[in-house]
This record gives sequence, structure tokens and C-alpha cells, in this order.
Amino acid sequence: MKKYNFDEIIERRNTNALNTDGFRSYIFGASDDDESMKFPYEDDEFIRMWVADMEFATPDCVLDKIRERLDKRILGYTRIFSNEYYNAFRSWCEKRYGWSFEKEELLTSNGIIPALYALTGHILEKDEKLLFLTPSYAYFQYSADANGNEAVYSNLINNDGYFEIDYEDFAKKASDEKTKLLIFCNPHNPTGRVWKKDELEKIGEIIEENNLWVISDEIHCDLLRKGQKHIPLGKVMPNYKRLITCMAVSKTFNTAGLMFSNVIIRDEELREKWNKTHINFENPLSIAGAMGAYESGEDWLEELREYLDNNFKVTEEYLKENLPKSKFRISEATYLAWVDLSEYFQAEEDLSEFFAYKAGVLLEGGRMFVQNSDCFIRLNLAMPKAMLMEGLERISEAVNNKIDAQL
Ligand SMILES: Cc1ncc(COP(=O)(O)O)c(C=O)c1O
Repeated sequence: MKKYNFDEIIERRNTNALNTDGFRSYIFGASDDDESMKFPYEDDEFIRMWVADMEFATPDCVLDKIRERLDKRILGYTRIFSNEYYNAFRSWCEKRYGWSFEKEELLTSNGIIPALYALTGHILEKDEKLLFLTPSYAYFQYSADANGNEAVYSNLINNDGYFEIDYEDFAKKASDEKTKLLIFCNPHNPTGRVWKKDELEKIGEIIEENNLWVISDEIHCDLLRKGQKHIPLGKVMPNYKRLITCMAVSKTFNTAGLMFSNVIIRDEELREKWNKTHINFENPLSIAGAMGAYESGEDWLEELREYLDNNFKVTEEYLKENLPKSKFRISEATYLAWVDLSEYFQAEEDLSEFFAYKAGVLLEGGRMFVQNSDCFIRLNLAMPKAMLMEGLERISEAVNNKIDAQL
């Protein structure tokens, strides 16, 4: 008997949600109130499969803690003073990943994006380079851009839909004397790879050989398919000081708007730099919500994972049946599907635009993922199954119409 209802369709409009109201600027670079940007669909007719938050309700274990905190009625300046938060988060990491860290290493940030920007600035001189694997979450690129640093890319190898690291290329890029920082996405967005122990060890060796700083962005680490296991990079590099680990409850429990994440910095000097420039006040509601998640969120998470596993399964079946030339492997982690449509599209086609105009589906086309991503689409599957099926139907119909028109 299921305890939670992931089939419920929840109205998100009029909440200032980026997901519903911010797609014109985020996906299309237009202004959000640009009246001239018209689609053949009303805004509320779109199936939204883009930004990485979920259409599911945040669980009550989180909301109740926030309500409890609200009932204290004063929301003054707040910082994490007690050990409670550290203990709850550390226990989560010990139990789920067999990994832990010291209290003084744990800092918090208003989201991982601001942490990436700040850390890149703290670590790199202006003429130094930032390395990451591609395709990539675009904010790794933006962190380099915002700090005026050059980005260097190592393309993943696409082995029949299974993405692997090109160690030779990676080692070459890492050994450039100007390359000083790696942002490593573990598990990987957008391919959904869960890096295995031997892969992490090889990457770890190259990092150590070149004395690189590494930010391991592990924001997706709880959202694993059944049978997968997350290994923090810090676990295979237990004594490496130049390692920063970012984790959060935000993806796992759908609380991205609470802007609260963990940044575990081992190096004391870097922590000092961070503390000098970082205004480390926190939103009291965010702390309360995160406590609720770490203390009592596990059974909800397990049911969410089952639901997501099924959404991936039906997506795979649907694509096989209706878009037989698409290539898709179920992601090992995340709720994001990375689908290869190269048999249907040319590299120069803008797939975000195509599916918005022709299918009424908002999704992120390959070009939003830096490089090595032409003709892919990223689909967010974290939604009620009925909504997902409608999205998949629209996508396949639009592609099949395109093929018919070409015949
Ligand atoms: C790899 C990765 N890092 C960071 C973020 C965003 O983090 P935050 O919302 O904490 O700024 C995302 C969101 O999609 C992500 O996929």
C-alpha cells in the first residue's frame, strides 16, 4: 500500500515559479513579459519538462517542520549555531553513503549555483582555467564566465547511450599548467550517470597527479534508480584537501526555492576566504525544512524513487514504440532523461524551440548543455504519470509529423 500520492496534479501558477513563469527568459533568452513571444499554446497548456524541479508536493515531513518554525512567530536573523543540523546531515551521509566529514568543514550557501560562482572566484586567478566534462549543466560554464576564466571541456564518450569518461583526453586537459579547477558532477547532469568506484578512482588519480582543486557537485546524489549506489568523490579521496563537496535537500525533496545547500570545504585557508566574503545568514524556514528532510524523509524518498523508476520505464517503452530511432538509456540517477534524437534532427535545429512550437512541450534542447550535446533533448520526468504520458505523446506526434512532412 502506497503512503504518498505522486499522481496528484498541483497547480503552480501564480506562485512566481520559474517553471511556469520564467521559461521565456531561461529557455529562449526573451523577456518573461515579452508579449510578442507567442506560441500556438497558452502558457497553461504546456507540458513542462524543463527546469530541474518536480511537479510533486514537497513531503509533509519538510512542510510540517517549516510550519512548526512559523509557529514560533519571529523570523529574525538566523545562522546555524547548534549541532543539530550538522548531526542530522552527517547521519544522512553516513547511513546512505558510508561517508562523513568534520563539523568545521561544513558551510552552507544560498544554493549551489552561488557557491560555484564564489568558489571559482576564490580558487582561480584570472588567467587560470576551469575544466569540466561535457555535455554539462550550463552553470559550470557560467561560473567560468562570471569570473572571467576560460573553460576547458572534456567530452564524454557516448557508448551506445552510456556515457563514459575519456581518461586520456581528461588527463591531457588536466595537465595544462593553467588548468587549476575541475567541477565534477557526481551523479552527472544531464546524462544521469552514477560514477562507479573505479571511475572515481581514475578521476581521483588524475586530480591528485595535477594537484587540481575539485568541486564535486553531488546535488543529485539521492535520486538514484533502485540498485544504484552513490559514492561521494570525497570517499575515494579521503585525504585530499583540495576537494569541496556540494550537496543539498533541494532536488531530493523539491525545495529549490528555499535556497539552502551544503558546501563541505576541507581546506582551512579556502574556508577562511569563504567566511570573509560570505554573508552566512540563513533562512530559518530553509533550515527547518532541511532538518525535516534529513530526520524523517527517507520513506518518502524511497517511494519517490519507485515512482521515478516507473516513469523512466514507461518513457523507455513509449520511445521504443513510438520513436523507434531515438536512443535512450534509463538514467542511473536524477529524474532527467537524456534522449538522442539525432536520427530525426540536424545539429543546427533548435530543439527547445521545435518542441515548444510544434508540441506544446517545454524541454531543454541539447544546445543548453555547453557542447557534445547536439540533437539531444533533456526531459524532466518528475511529474505525475498522466502528465508524462501526455508530454511523450506530444513529443512523438510532433517528430512523426515532421517526418511525414519530409516524405
Ligand atoms: C548539477 C547541478 N548543480 C546545481 C544545481 C542548482 O543548484 P541550486 O539550486 O542549489 O543553486 C542544479 C540544478 O539543476 C544542478 O543540476
